[in-house]
Amino acid sequence: MFNPQNNLLVKSETNRAFTAKKKNLLAICTLLTILSCVVSSCAGTTTTKQTSGFQKLDEWTQVWKEGQQTYFGYPVNQQSELHDFYEWYLAAGMDVINLNNAGDPMSGEPQKMSTQAFEREVIEFFAPLYGFQKDSVWGIVTHSGTDGNNHGIYFGANYLYNKTGKMPVVYVSDEAHYSNMRLCDLQNLEVKLIKSDAMGRMIPEELEKALDTTRPALMVFAMGSTFKGAIDDQEALNAVLDRHPEMAVYRHVDAALFGGYLPFTKDKDMVSHARMRFDAIAISGHKFFGIDSPSGLFICTRETYDNQNNFNVTYLNGNMKMINCSRDAVQPLKFWWLIQKVGYDQWSQQANRMMECTAYLKQQLDNIGWPC
Ligand SMILES: Cc1ncc(COP(=O)(O)O)c(C=O)c1O
Repeated sequence: MFNPQNNLLVKSETNRAFTAKKKNLLAICTLLTILSCVVSSCAGTTTTKQTSGFQKLDEWTQVWKEGQQTYFGYPVNQQSELHDFYEWYLAAGMDVINLNNAGDPMSGEPQKMSTQAFEREVIEFFAPLYGFQKDSVWGIVTHSGTDGNNHGIYFGANYLYNKTGKMPVVYVSDEAHYSNMRLCDLQNLEVKLIKSDAMGRMIPEELEKALDTTRPALMVFAMGSTFKGAIDDQEALNAVLDRHPEMAVYRHVDAALFGGYLPFTKDKDMVSHARMRFDAIAISGHKFFGIDSPSGLFICTRETYDNQNNFNVTYLNGNMKMINCSRDAVQPLKFWWLIQKVGYDQWSQQANRMMECTAYLKQQLDNIGWPC
């Protein structure tokens, strides 16, 4: 019987294609499972009528409530545990305090009118889950997966340039999320789109053919591509890169889609810096973690951060390496709240339940001969 837990890791070159197919089936099934969890978690939603006094808004609220029961598409977890958070927020008068996390939450004292102290704890909670050491990590709560990818690519280009004096070539699979290509365009970086296999994973032999070994390589690995849910085989791609020790390499993982649940499963090595040697990773907060509006995590090595160009901004403690100036102060609080309220054990239960449901769904599709 198909067992997703045992089949996620590639064991050998010879069974790579077979395992790839299973991995990607798993990814697609996982997407469907997240969606079914969304629907079931909404079944008990209270429908008490709350009116805003604005007809248009009230009408739309109804549309959203109904849509929440049946929406199929974007993989968000609507089992949000933020109700108490909003109660506290209003009761404490937080709604009239304007906070801003501009600046670096990981170095020095937190800014007074910010939630950086909590943002730092969020990064310190998640860093070990993604295989980073607490004393050599840097990170922020981002505005989205795209914001995380933007930092991953920007930091990678600066890191490689500062190390080698040459701008890198970006290598990314043709199935990866479009934000990566958009961001390379924005940052004026040369991109080589690498062909993926039928299941959507970057083909190592195609990477080998495309490599320009005279320039540094900025790899963007997909951890859940948009339509096929493909997970690039980092071990196989790293083996290609290792054959060119003369070439400086930086690895960013776009784990916006699947980076939330994987650390809580047996397949956690896939998102481990220590095991996969990536330098940076981006994860969305509004998918698995159930934050109710766009947010995310960006985590990288301290070495990456230390090799960025500084802007000496006196009002931000002279330390400004990230892209955004103003940054949201509420999303870090929501993340922090969820760590206290849901935390490792419950996220593990949810993630493993998703994997069980995924295996079940796959089995049922097999039973009816559905090609997947
Ligand atoms: C693989 C992948 N990367 C990036 C993104 C963009 O993330 P966000 O929507 O959080 O900006 C998504 C969004 O679905 C995604 O699935």
